[in-house]
Amino acid sequence: TKISWDAEMAEKQGYQHFMLKEIHEQSESLKRLLEDNLNGGQIDLTASGLAEDWLDNYDKIHIVACGTAYHSGALAKYLLEDKLRIPVEVEVASEYRYRNPIVDAGTLMIVVSQSGETADTLAALRLAKEKGASVLALTNSRDSSIARESDMVIYLKAGPEIAVASTKAYTNMVAAFYLLLVDGMRQRDNISDQITAEYTSDLIKLPEMIRKLSEQSKEQIQAIADNYADKENIFFIGRNTDYTLALEGALKLKEISYIHAEAYPAGELKHGTLALIEEGVPVVALGSRADIFSKLFSNLKEVKARGAETLLITEENQKFEIESVDHLIELPILNKDFAGLLAIIPLQLLAYYTALNCGEDIDQPRNLAKSVTVE
Ligand code: G6P
Repeated sequence: TKISWDAEMAEKQGYQHFMLKEIHEQSESLKRLLEDNLNGGQIDLTASGLAEDWLDNYDKIHIVACGTAYHSGALAKYLLEDKLRIPVEVEVASEYRYRNPIVDAGTLMIVVSQSGETADTLAALRLAKEKGASVLALTNSRDSSIARESDMVIYLKAGPEIAVASTKAYTNMVAAFYLLLVDGMRQRDNISDQITAEYTSDLIKLPEMIRKLSEQSKEQIQAIADNYADKENIFFIGRNTDYTLALEGALKLKEISYIHAEAYPAGELKHGTLALIEEGVPVVALGSRADIFSKLFSNLKEVKARGAETLLITEENQKFEIESVDHLIELPILNKDFAGLLAIIPLQLLAYYTALNCGEDIDQPRNLAKSVTVE
C-alpha cells in the first residue's frame, strides 16, 4: 500500500529522511536490545534458545549474511576468535551456498538478517541445517522465514527500518554479537569474572555514549561532508575490527551518494590502492582500536605524504602528530573491542550529509531494494 504524503511526514517525526531519523534512534533501539537480554545486570541469552553453556557444544562458528549484515559478522569474527579461541568463518551468503562449505553437527551457524527474508541467506541457512549444524539467527523480523527456520533466534529489536541503507539494524547486529561475546567470555575459565563484568558494564554504557556522540559530532561532520560532495573517490582504511567498520562506512557512502568508495585493510594499501592517492583524495582512517593505533597512523602518514585529505576517527586521548590530520573526530573512551560501535555513528552521518549535498534520493537509492528476496 502507498502511504500518503502527510502520513509519511508524520512517520518521519520532523526528520527530512527516514535514514536520519533512524540514525538518531540508535541509542534507544540499542537500549531495547540490551535490556531484553540482561537479567539482574547479567547477560542472559537463554530466551533465544541458546544453552547456558552453548560454547561447549560447538567446535566452530560460521557467520553468513549479505550486505551490511555481513559487515557485522566480519567484525564479530575478530572479537570471537580473539577472546573465545573458537574458529570463526564469515562469508557472504551467495558464496557460501555454492561452494560446499565444511559444515556439520559441531558447527554453530549464525545467520544475520535485518529483514529475515534475504534469499541467499535463507538458502545458506537451509544448507547448513541439512548438514546438521545448529542455526542461530540474529534478525529484526519476528515473523520472517529466517526466524521460523532457525533453531535459535536473537531478535534485534531495532524497530522498523524504512531507509534502504541500514543503520540502526546494523548497530543492533553488532551489539548482539557483543552480547554473544561477553556471554561466551563468562563460559571461558581463563577469563576472569572481573573482566567479564567490566565488559558487561561497558556494554551498558554504549547507548548513552551513542546518544551524545550523534548530537556532538553533527556540525563538524556536516562541514566535512560539504567538501566531499564533488569528490570522485573516497577511501576508508582500518585494521582489525576497524577494517570492518571501514567496509561499512564505504558501503553506506557509496549506496546513497553514488561516490565511489572503497575500504582497505590499512596495511594492504601499499599493494595497489596507494596508486590512486593523489592531491585532495579523501582518506577516512578508522582508529578506534588503541592497541593497533600506531600501525594505522603510519598508514595515514603514507597517504598524507601523497596529498590525501585525511580524516581520522579515534578516541579522545589518543596521541599523534596532528600535522598529518586534516579533520579529526574524537570518540569517548571505551574498551577497544566496543569502541567500534561508537565509530559507526560518524560514518553514518558522513554518508548521510554527503548524500544530502549530492542531492540524491537518500531513503530510496537507485537500483537498490530494502529486502532482496530473489537471487
Ligand atoms: C539489501 C539491503 C541492505 C542489506 C542487505 C541484507 O541489499 O539494501 O541494506 O544489508 O540487503 O539484508 P538483510 O535484510 O538480510 O539484513
